[in-house]
Amino acid sequence: MAAHDVPAVAVRRLTKTYPGGVEAVKDLDFDVAPGEVFGLLGPNGAGKSTTIGMLTTTIAPTSGGAALAGYDVVRRPLQARAVSSVVFQEPVVDRGLSGRANLELHARLWGVDGAAIGELAGALGVEEILDRPVGGYSGGQRRRLEIARALVSRPRVLFLDEPTVGLDPRIRLELLDVIAGLRARDGMTIVLTTHYLEEAERLCDRVAIVHAGEIVALDTPAALLAGLGGELLELRIDGEVPVALAALGARGLAAGEALVVGSTVTIPLRDATAGDAIAALDRAGLTVVAVNSRRPALDDVYLRLTGAGLPAAA
Ligand SMILES: Nc1ncnc2c1ncn2[C@@H]1O[C@H](COP(=O)(O)OP(=O)(O)O)[C@@H](O)[C@H]1O
Ligand SMILES: [Mg+2]
Repeated sequence: MAAHDVPAVAVRRLTKTYPGGVEAVKDLDFDVAPGEVFGLLGPNGAGKSTTIGMLTTTIAPTSGGAALAGYDVVRRPLQARAVSSVVFQEPVVDRGLSGRANLELHARLWGVDGAAIGELAGALGVEEILDRPVGGYSGGQRRRLEIARALVSRPRVLFLDEPTVGLDPRIRLELLDVIAGLRARDGMTIVLTTHYLEEAERLCDRVAIVHAGEIVALDTPAALLAGLGGELLELRIDGEVPVALAALGARGLAAGEALVVGSTVTIPLRDATAGDAIAALDRAGLTVVAVNSRRPALDDVYLRLTGAGLPAAA
């Protein structure tokens, strides 16, 4: 079944409408290649967890479907589950048990040899706390244990739903390094969700930007950024923004792609310079009170596609 050309994850027109009519996921289509790290990036409510729920067989699709390593999640849920593991947003480990007991319990559930537990604990950096009750773990330690637990069954596809949410910045960065290291394991495929842009940029080979249940862009982080050119110019204007946009547009300065937040206009600088833009505004009788040029970030891609910002990482 699982030949090399079978996608690790194949999603076809996947749709979920919850009772009451919330269209949480609409017609998603994407493939994830074996060994790829794939990100679903979007704000709260975008439909990320619902998608993970359908891919891990805990939520029934309304229509469309998906397969993991060739196993259909609706028709062959047991096989689909057997080749995958998931770390959900909510904790699942038993707080009264030690970390080791949690991992051993999971190994028995899956009928796998518990001998790998020491190695996994080492890989996730939890070996020193393994014999303590999980109730005393910090948030970051618990996340690491949950990932170790998910790896006990040697999944070919690992799903991580917002793996770093709620962790403080330093612990988040450490956990990102741990996750980045996981991809080296047995060519494992990783699908993760996040609402942190830099997390997607740092970890993912490709990113699907999800907005209101739909994929609005899907590409490598570099290609998504390249669509905005090498440099963005932010101009804070004293005067009428529509007049400024018209003046910039008349000079061919990408006014159609301009992003306006209050009195700040952001434009991609392709062949033009900041001087050209300021001169165009000056001729229109507008004063530029602040100028800033910077490299585009995934947030700019997101803003342009959806007109809404993502929250900054803590
Ligand atoms: N069990 C449910 N019943 C009804 N609506 C739900 C349920 N779970 C999620 N939703 C709604 O579906 C949408 C997508 O939610 P979710 O998949 O959790 O998004 P995300 O993980 O991107 O924050 C939201 O509008 C949410 O309120
Ligand atoms: Mg979620």
